[in-house]
Amino acid sequence: MRKKIIAGNWKMNVKPSETAALVKAIAEAVKDVQNVDVVCCTPAIDVPAAVAACKGTNVHPGAENVHWEQSGAYTGEISTGMLLDAGAEYVIVGHSERRQYFGETDETVNKRARAAIAAGLVAIVCVGETLEERDAGKLVEVIERQMKTGLKDVTAADCAKLVIAYEPVWAIGTGRTATPDQAQEVHALIRKTLAGLVGAEAAETVRIQYGGSMKPGNAAELLAKPDIDGGLIGGAALKADSFAAIIAAAK
Ligand code: PGA
Repeated sequence: MRKKIIAGNWKMNVKPSETAALVKAIAEAVKDVQNVDVVCCTPAIDVPAAVAACKGTNVHPGAENVHWEQSGAYTGEISTGMLLDAGAEYVIVGHSERRQYFGETDETVNKRARAAIAAGLVAIVCVGETLEERDAGKLVEVIERQMKTGLKDVTAADCAKLVIAYEPVWAIGTGRTATPDQAQEVHALIRKTLAGLVGAEAAETVRIQYGGSMKPGNAAELLAKPDIDGGLIGGAALKADSFAAIIAAAK
């Protein structure tokens, strides 16, 4: 049995001065939850405040991006060593907004994911098709390419530090959710593709989250599907009550 994992992706929301209050409200609401991993991935500048607020709770801090080099002339970037030093445990890699607006490619996703895993962070690697790609019948091709290139040279041993998020781009922030059957179909494809890369046994251990307008009203039916092991939550993660309601649906 894979332990469910519900992660908030705060995106470019929540100031450092507002971080502790949100994390503490979430921690209070989920203090009795044991069978779900609860994560808050925050803007890098919020990470120290999130780490402090997570101490002694069952909420785990994470970031939204990381560079593959340890240090050097990479203005604006943040290294795995910096995130670990600040106390982060998780990091999102290859979110579609980074692919869409910041030139992220499957190759850079691969570098970031491998660096994060090698450093001991849990990498939440995002894949997902656009509506155009889905409508053009390219769903399978796109997911396989993102998986094979994005996870190139990731090994079975690395799977302990790997989470995959399936986020159909057309469902992110749009209020339009994939149906549980649509999501399950892609999650099964992701697991099959992963099995081709790391072997079936290791692939069975990797949690695959669904992301894209997941909310309290649709979480339970999505999470009931056999290959949907959690959620990556944007909008609904910014309020403790809606985030906690999704976590309740997962336990
Ligand atoms: P959403 O975002 O829940 O607001 O659709 C999900 C994500 O982009 O991770």
